[in-house]
Amino acid sequence: MGTAEQRLSEEAQYCADTFNGAIASAAISAAWEIGLLDELERAGRVGIAEFSATAGADPGVVRALLVALSSRRIVTLGPERTEAATGAGFADAYRTKGFFYWLTRGCGELLTTLPAKVLEHDREGDFVRRDSRAISVACRNIARTFFDPPLRKLLETVECTTVADLGCGSSDRLIMLADLMPETRGIGIDVAAGAITVSKEAIAAAGMEDRIALVQDDVLNLSPRDEYADVDLLTCFLMGHDFWPRDNAVTTLRRLRETFPNAKNLVIGDTCRSTGVHGPEHGMFTLGFETVHTVMDQYIPTLDEWSSVLEESGWRIADRRMIDLPAFSFIYRLTPA
Ligand SMILES: C[S@@+](CC[C@H](N)C(=O)[O-])C[C@H]1O[C@@H](n2cnc3c(N)ncnc32)[C@H](O)[C@@H]1O
Repeated sequence: MGTAEQRLSEEAQYCADTFNGAIASAAISAAWEIGLLDELERAGRVGIAEFSATAGADPGVVRALLVALSSRRIVTLGPERTEAATGAGFADAYRTKGFFYWLTRGCGELLTTLPAKVLEHDREGDFVRRDSRAISVACRNIARTFFDPPLRKLLETVECTTVADLGCGSSDRLIMLADLMPETRGIGIDVAAGAITVSKEAIAAAGMEDRIALVQDDVLNLSPRDEYADVDLLTCFLMGHDFWPRDNAVTTLRRLRETFPNAKNLVIGDTCRSTGVHGPEHGMFTLGFETVHTVMDQYIPTLDEWSSVLEESGWRIADRRMIDLPAFSFIYRLTPA
């Protein structure tokens, strides 16, 4: 029997789909980074030779990416394999590309070295490395698509002169807020050098160097600074889980009130640990988020755990929005209790 006529059993096909999904995930990240995904979104189709010439890319590798994407119906390839058009799965893949980039570009090394991160004697010292630059880029896209629209609604009634964004990543949120509120100044705080680099580039590109300052520091243990007294709005997106486990979360949330004594609102948006999801029911992102944080020994609280810690920490919930994707995600607006 030739390979063209080869028919896999349902179980074998399921297994092949799992394997192909891993390749397609990496292909989504690569296609986004080199502009191939954006070109498909813009034009609906792409010629391999033309795109490769413009992007300075190897046409054979571009074709390989498109073949991988076609295995998941994200694109369809022409009969000669010289061009590709968007497929049935393209719109969803384009909308969720940040999750794939987070997984394969941001957490790629963690996943490829996973076998060496399981045994206790391997889990000592600095045993996990992630690409903080790629994580910032991925989170910027995830936050823009899924968190920022409800955040803008939630902030409609909030006044602010200075906003500090904790774990600011790319500073995209600060730039968005500074755009929205022309009188507002921003302070971005992040511990990772990669995030500060991405932030500097983004702030310069937006021409906002005079309005947004950056501080490289650990949000769990902030050194005091005079300018923190001006902050009346605190935001913290996709890093609140780093406050945990519970005792640390209480300490950090309480300390924020001392470090930023004039903060009238703290807006936290984050993804929680799933509850009641089993086996094949896992949707987009949840499994990756929970696997990666388990390997990193980072506790992820459930939504109930988050809610229960706030009262004890000197904050109360003034407003909230629940987010469908990523599942088990929320935005809380907290005010000092
Ligand atoms: C998942 S990213 C989210 C970035 C950004 N808030 C956003 O919404 O796009 C988490 C960010 O928090 C930063 N971070 C994690 N722990 C931190 C800590 N203890 N102090 C300061 N920044 C931290 C990471 O470096 C990373 O940039």
